[in-house]
Amino acid sequence: MDLNINGAVRVVDVNPDTPLLYVLRNDLGLVGSRFGCGSGLCGACFVLVDGRPMASCDLPISFVAGKKVTTVEGLGSDGELHPVQKALIDEQAAQCGYCMSGIAVSAAALLAGNKRPSEKEVREALDMHLCRCGSHNRVVRAVLKVAHE
Ligand code: FES
Ligand code: FES
Repeated sequence: MDLNINGAVRVVDVNPDTPLLYVLRNDLGLVGSRFGCGSGLCGACFVLVDGRPMASCDLPISFVAGKKVTTVEGLGSDGELHPVQKALIDEQAAQCGYCMSGIAVSAAALLAGNKRPSEKEVREALDMHLCRCGSHNRVVRAVLKVAHE
């Protein structure tokens, strides 16, 4: 199966029912997307599919055939981190960091469609991303920093 991952065609030989997250991590070496709940409920595995944040842990690989997948590894461009990634680092938003790749892709998608989101809109966009370390407020501050700088 041909996949479009981070702007490159990648060929994989897997069962079409295999979850996208497993293919990313185990077959393509893209380990930035994390396994958390495995049920689409925690946000750790989120990637962008045609620009839309989606859980990759329960998404059959067949669903993304012909679509563009962007993982946290492909968020930046020209060798630079995405502004959201820079802001998350600047605000020292992460503690363990396990949730951050999913948060980064969802925040990037929000800003792609709404360059000046309100705090409420940021919180709503990131609502389903669980963070056991309690870094939510620093994350929101980082995203607002990108939106309003
Ligand atoms: S691991 Fe996919 S949403 Fe939790
Ligand atoms: S920084 Fe540890 S789970 Fe979010």
